[in-house]
Amino acid sequence: MISRLLLDWYDANARRLPWRAAPGSNAADPYRVWLSEIMLQQTQVATVIPYFEKFTTRWPTFEAFAAAADADVMTAWAGLGYYARARNLLACAREVTRLGRMPDTEEGLRALPGVGAYTAAAIAAIAFGRRAVVVDANVERVVSRLFAIETPLPASRPQIRAHTDAITPDTRAGDFAQAMMDLGSGICTARAPRCLLCPLRDQCDGFRTGTPELFPYKAKK
Ligand code: ADE
Repeated sequence: MISRLLLDWYDANARRLPWRAAPGSNAADPYRVWLSEIMLQQTQVATVIPYFEKFTTRWPTFEAFAAAADADVMTAWAGLGYYARARNLLACAREVTRLGRMPDTEEGLRALPGVGAYTAAAIAAIAFGRRAVVVDANVERVVSRLFAIETPLPASRPQIRAHTDAITPDTRAGDFAQAMMDLGSGICTARAPRCLLCPLRDQCDGFRTGTPELFPYKAKK
């Protein structure tokens, strides 16, 4: 029910981001998904977009990227910060090239340089359509509100994860994950959430409390 409503909303309202497959196509390119997820780890979408375009124009595939000179990648990365990400990108592209393809399970992905639990889940779902539970800060906020979770973060993380697992659909897990991200960034915002535009309003326990913006609860200092 929740996933159905959310996916219908996503079909009409998805952000057209350059690493997403064209609408109606389910062929997201693992290279582009991986590159975007690494760039998005500590950097906002709007900042990432021009870097993503620059990188994919210059290095359109894992093989091209793996053959890049380290110094060229570091120079192209300048401005994004957290330079360990750029070094891991190169190590990862070279490992994927050695393997012959990108691993398509969360476990296989986690073994790659620079790919942690969140990124592995995101790539498994978005690039390979696997049913992975993808929880970032936006999803934490959305789920805390949907289920009016009164336990503050970070203690609520196991609960949030269990709820996210329960509402994740067996198909279109990648679209579902990205729909949750889009909902969190555009509708279910930290301050002044736009509940009147929300496709999940009627399912939302937080909305029913009358003060959805209070979730996720802050720990008392
Ligand atoms: N942040 C991290 N991954 C993202 C994605 N695939 N779409 C939008 N925002 C994101």
